[in-house]
Amino acid sequence: MDFKQIISHCKEYGFIYQSSDIYDGLSAVYDYGPYGVELKNNIKQYWWKSMVQMHGNIVGIDAAIFMHPKTWKASGHVDAFNDPLVDNKDSKKRYRADQLIEGYTDKIEAKIIKDVEKARKRFGDDFDEDQFKTTNGRIIDRQSKIDSILGEMNQHLKDENMVGLKELIERLEIACPDSGSKNWTDVRQFNLMFNTQLGNIAGEEGKLYLRPETAQGIFVNFLNVQKTTRQKIPFGIAQIGKAFRNEIVARQFIFRMREFEQMEMQFFVKPGTEMEWYRHWKETRMKWHESLGTSSNHLRFHDHDNLAHYANAALDIEYQFPFGFKELEGIHSRTDFDLGSHQKLSGKKLQYFDPEINESYVPYVVETSIGADRMFLSQISENLKEESVPDSSGKESTRTVLSLNPAIAPVKCAVLPLLKNKVELTKAAHDVHDKIKLHFNTQYDEKDAVGRRYRRQDAIGTPYCVTIDFETLDDHCVTIRDRDTLKQERVKIDDVVSKIRDKVDMNGLLTS
Ligand code: GAP
Repeated sequence: MDFKQIISHCKEYGFIYQSSDIYDGLSAVYDYGPYGVELKNNIKQYWWKSMVQMHGNIVGIDAAIFMHPKTWKASGHVDAFNDPLVDNKDSKKRYRADQLIEGYTDKIEAKIIKDVEKARKRFGDDFDEDQFKTTNGRIIDRQSKIDSILGEMNQHLKDENMVGLKELIERLEIACPDSGSKNWTDVRQFNLMFNTQLGNIAGEEGKLYLRPETAQGIFVNFLNVQKTTRQKIPFGIAQIGKAFRNEIVARQFIFRMREFEQMEMQFFVKPGTEMEWYRHWKETRMKWHESLGTSSNHLRFHDHDNLAHYANAALDIEYQFPFGFKELEGIHSRTDFDLGSHQKLSGKKLQYFDPEINESYVPYVVETSIGADRMFLSQISENLKEESVPDSSGKESTRTVLSLNPAIAPVKCAVLPLLKNKVELTKAAHDVHDKIKLHFNTQYDEKDAVGRRYRRQDAIGTPYCVTIDFETLDDHCVTIRDRDTLKQERVKIDDVVSKIRDKVDMNGLLTS
């Protein structure tokens, strides 16, 4: 489905609403609706269980959003958490210089993807994508143009060369996407942290920041956690929570928001072993994405050329969103930068005594960091489809289905009496609903013909519909319809819960 259809589906079916909609919305801030919150909670639960519950050496915390302002000085965010900003003088629209340039290379990449798809159709099963990409002259030229532009851009970002970025934009003749004008201001740095004021302290002293990442709450608690849980290195601390960034350009729906949620894990290791753990988490996290059924063709690694101030290695796991391959998750080897800086600025030792070598040291850190909202968008993009299926009379009709992995589906089961105005049916259906709702998020629905109710459940991704008909009253069986196979099966009421559990239980994912 294209991106516009995804956005309108999210609104129409109660997944996501624009924040403060009745006041015409607040830019790049969104609210999760009834199905959205369930799906997001399930994604967070799956991440938490995989990280914390499945690892004896990873524990969780929930740190406050507000932190001592020195935290952000030590972390480098006050001085270096900047994006290069450029304004178009005619349209007055503001852009991130690197995103304008990436938008230019995305268009070249879209041409490559189109050529690859054409060739795939032409060659059928024999098609070898890698071979095609490395031998087709037009693709090689396009790829080398992308590499050269991005290479130059990354060098300018690294050198903080704002003049170089402006020259690149002008040389590529990049126009304002809104007005088509090429009349740009100079590029300048813009700090992304939101700030506010502590109630009883005036001026700089009382300046507080809304955290731009959850990671720092973990670093400042490193010793508290290590001592109180008696963890030995290597061990990790995980956290899920809100983060805030005053993004210059926050388009693309929930992909880039000003208020969003992160799921981060900092893994503390012995210095010198960090690359081993970096590789470990790189593979582990990719498997996690694939475990939900996301096609491996839609996921890829992207090594950073332009390393952040704290990292000695970094990569993204990218997902092919409807607008191209973009960062979904970051894996960073953060060295001892954060603990070292906090130790220096606070004057408090943040060291670990390693009994195996009888020495104390500041541990190195490998971080995995993923946005819950981006993960949500990747799952909707991956699974929302229109497909042709036979209707009750056997004729082909189109349905919209959200084929989410059942373990994260917002509603696991819908209970549907065949008819709404037959008390004996609705009563039996309520009884079945009461039984199932103890175990899973279940919905009772009696409005409209049963076919339309199936379609509504398909559109929100419900793996099972349970229908109560007149036979149920005699044989105590119900019809269970499977969202994916459309197969209908008679099952005893007493067996319904175990039948559903077989398919929707998250533990199946965790142990596979
Ligand atoms: N602690 C490291 C860190 O924050 P990051 O690459 O800036 O690294 C990590 O962010 C993840 O957070 C990203 O991969 C993305 O999924 C998510 N993220 C970052 N900025 C975001 C935004 N403005 N809106 C939604 N998600 C965002």
